Amino acid sequence: MNKEETVIKTLKKFNQEHIISWMNKLEENEKNKLIEQILNLNIEQVIDLYNNLNKTFEIGNKKIEKITAIDLNKLEDEDFKKYKNIGIDIIKAGQYAVITMAGGQGTRLGHSGPKGTFKVKLDNGEKYLFQIIVESLQKANEKYDVIIPWYIMTSEENNDQTLSFLEEHDYFGYPKNKVKLFIQGKAPLISTTGKLLIGKDKLIKEASDGNGSIYKSLAKDGIIEDMKKDNIKWVFVGGVDNILLKIIDPLLLGVTISEGNEIASKSVIKNDPKERAGVFCKIDGKPGIIEYSELPEEMSEEKDDNGEFVYGDVSILSHLYTIEALQKLSTKTLPYHIAEKKSEYLDENGNLIKPEGKNVYKFESFIFDAFSYYNDMSILRVKREEEFAPIKNAEGNDSPETAIKLYNAKLQKKLALYM
Ligand code: UD1
Repeated sequence: MNKEETVIKTLKKFNQEHIISWMNKLEENEKNKLIEQILNLNIEQVIDLYNNLNKTFEIGNKKIEKITAIDLNKLEDEDFKKYKNIGIDIIKAGQYAVITMAGGQGTRLGHSGPKGTFKVKLDNGEKYLFQIIVESLQKANEKYDVIIPWYIMTSEENNDQTLSFLEEHDYFGYPKNKVKLFIQGKAPLISTTGKLLIGKDKLIKEASDGNGSIYKSLAKDGIIEDMKKDNIKWVFVGGVDNILLKIIDPLLLGVTISEGNEIASKSVIKNDPKERAGVFCKIDGKPGIIEYSELPEEMSEEKDDNGEFVYGDVSILSHLYTIEALQKLSTKTLPYHIAEKKSEYLDENGNLIKPEGKNVYKFESFIFDAFSYYNDMSILRVKREEEFAPIKNAEGNDSPETAIKLYNAKLQKKLALYM
């Protein structure tokens, strides 16, 4: 069977005949591109997910319990110093690397480029989100006399734009040989009626499949091997949009090492039951996070006898791993979560269809679902006003306006901005 026959057989098997008729309308080179794409797609998996929508991640009968965080404010001075010194030794030894996840589309913010190319006007100057991250790295490099390797996870959708932006700005002065981009995974979209869609590029429509694809993408691109050769022992993974994110924090390292854990994360106390941030908890006895979009209302509002939220520690997307943990997690397959989205597509005659409402299922894995492969992790509860100023929406909560206010307030207090 040649490639075309193989593809036709697969499409028929999964009731995707509309793609066959589309294929036959294409010019030879377009058709060959589509055939190559389909040969590399796992159509069976997507159809299987569609047929078992109720089998993707759900809380269902899972046992959910409260989890305890270490409160930074309650640390004794002596412990604070001890932990910090442990972390500083790791950083000074050149055993620490940073990954920024920047594969998301930032649709909610309404910015057309990659989110890291968004600019904010701060009291200490106008800065791009990527530039703020570089400034933290540079400050740490000066302080600890190292050059911390910086990895950026992009997506098929934004990799080229991200790369040219960084080139154009000369990596904001960061040594280029210490910056590496890698592309995250993607998965086909499927319509709510179970059909694959054709995109404007005349190929089957795919989209980034969530930040949980980081583990496999790191291994696929040889990044974990790279890090091992560089003698990296600890890797920080953070989001791109929190302008107060401490990407180099010896305290988090020290706490994690002292507790004998391989993974760690940071939380802040939830300020509103409806806050759009994942909550830390135990899921079937293992550490985890339940995303805000999946947290049942009664759980989000539940309070204990002291009047505090039972699930009151929210994730600020600030995770830490040993290199061994990343390696182990890169061999695991995380569950997909479903999101219904609105997505344009071409019909069989090549007409662009702009749906009025949500018309596709998008499958995404979440980075924190991997925590369940460990019995324990360190969670460090930090001060919101010092470490969490995310930019998610164009206006209102978690917008440029709220984030800039928090950043400037910290600047005014003369607190070290990023460390
Ligand atoms: C995320 C967290 C949430 C946390 C909140 C804090 C996840 C799944 N959710 O929610 O628990 O409380 O941040 O601000 O981690 N990204 C990719 N590829 C993708 C999707 C996202 O790289 O396919 C990156 C984004 O560029 C961003 C980060 O992951 O840096 C978070 O993505 P976003 O969609 O903004 O997540 P939130 O819904 O804000």
